[in-house]
Amino acid sequence: MEGEVSVSGGKNAAVAIIPAALLADSPSTIENIPDINDVHVIIEMLRWLGARVEFRDHTMWIDPRTVDRYNPPYELAGRMRASYYFAPVLLGVFGRAEVPLPGGCDIGARPIDQTVKGMCALGARVETLGGVVVAEADELIGDDIYLDMPSVGATVNSMLTAVSASGTTCIHNAAKEPHIVDLANFLSSMGAVVKGAGTDVIRIRGGRHLHGANYTVVPDQIETGTLMIAAAATAGDVLITGAIPTHMEALSAKLLEMGVSVTSEDDWIHVKSNGTFRSVNVKTQGYPGFPTDLQQPLSALLTVANGTSIVTETIFESRFRFLDELRKMGANVRVIESTAIISGVEKLVGARVNATDLRAGAAMMIAGLMADGVTEIGGIGYILRGYERFDEKLRSLGAKVETMHLTEVAF
Ligand code: EPZ
Repeated sequence: MEGEVSVSGGKNAAVAIIPAALLADSPSTIENIPDINDVHVIIEMLRWLGARVEFRDHTMWIDPRTVDRYNPPYELAGRMRASYYFAPVLLGVFGRAEVPLPGGCDIGARPIDQTVKGMCALGARVETLGGVVVAEADELIGDDIYLDMPSVGATVNSMLTAVSASGTTCIHNAAKEPHIVDLANFLSSMGAVVKGAGTDVIRIRGGRHLHGANYTVVPDQIETGTLMIAAAATAGDVLITGAIPTHMEALSAKLLEMGVSVTSEDDWIHVKSNGTFRSVNVKTQGYPGFPTDLQQPLSALLTVANGTSIVTETIFESRFRFLDELRKMGANVRVIESTAIISGVEKLVGARVNATDLRAGAAMMIAGLMADGVTEIGGIGYILRGYERFDEKLRSLGAKVETMHLTEVAF
């Protein structure tokens, strides 16, 4: 592939920032929101709760003043992981929230015990009844929250609870992802006092009056990385614009190790490759380590690297199921517990495969771009959840890809 492509706004930032807008007493305007299915589900949830919402040209206007419900339905909440971000928000607004357990990619058990721990630490009573998280609090009071692991979701939910709690909350062992910092910046623009986002300890002085804000969402770190890997996979020469190179350092370092040329400045990243790759070892970590969401796309690329690569997935306990699909295309991979051993082959061969989750879908697209012959990917609804117009973006770079009946895409 050759040419220039721009990155959309961050999915995992937008799905945390949009619910936070309900904490204000006036409308917010949020720009650079990706036009993806998860965002459309959130819009349905906002309207169900009574908010007024407009969304066009990647800009969302939210008026929270007419919100009059605290119990979104399972039909909506069950369609994505981030739906439970509404629990701390509705708790802060109404003193009560009844939010179904979240959906999201099937990449592990994905419990919410750390979210419950954070909300309880600030005075909420939380229980799960029939698949619904019921939270209530007469008053939320700031305190220390010690997360057992740097959970992104629990950090978000603790932040969204803390801004409604009187006094100061310290979230220890917090996640440091770019979308955590973006949420902190949005909350600050609403009048909250949030310090330390991006470090292990986030301090929030809560109980303050929050007003609507104008905000622009950060570029999508994982879409940027997926485009970088796709460029390398096709022996390409691609300029990725509207990105934040510092968010990509773990992937850029890995691609350089593989022999891919990666240069960057300001808001662009240039990826060039001759189509041959050295094998490397990868271990997923929380930010700024190698992102688990890029493990699957990079593993697809490693199937044709020279030599054997070792990929260790430390974040989710079943994020290797997509390798079964890559085997259908000729990949030589073995999985031993949380480690995949990938022995490079000369070429992949196109086949009919399935996307088993969102980033697995991205991995299959990477594989399809490299394979000889046509690859048909079923279940691309996953891809549409998290990547905006991704087939169009790849086509604009010269890839041969078409989306049929929205159930499969052929390469
Ligand atoms: C967020 O999921 C992202 N989703 C995921 O992206 C991403 O893979 C993940 O963070 C890690 O970066 C959104 O932001 C909407 P975690 P989340 O809580 O919050 C365990 C994508 O493709 N854990 O950091 O669910 C958990 O089981 C998606 O965009 C607990 O044990 O991730 C997992 O093993 C996929 N108890 C690990 O921690 C808890 O209460 C990390 O989970 C919470 C998490």
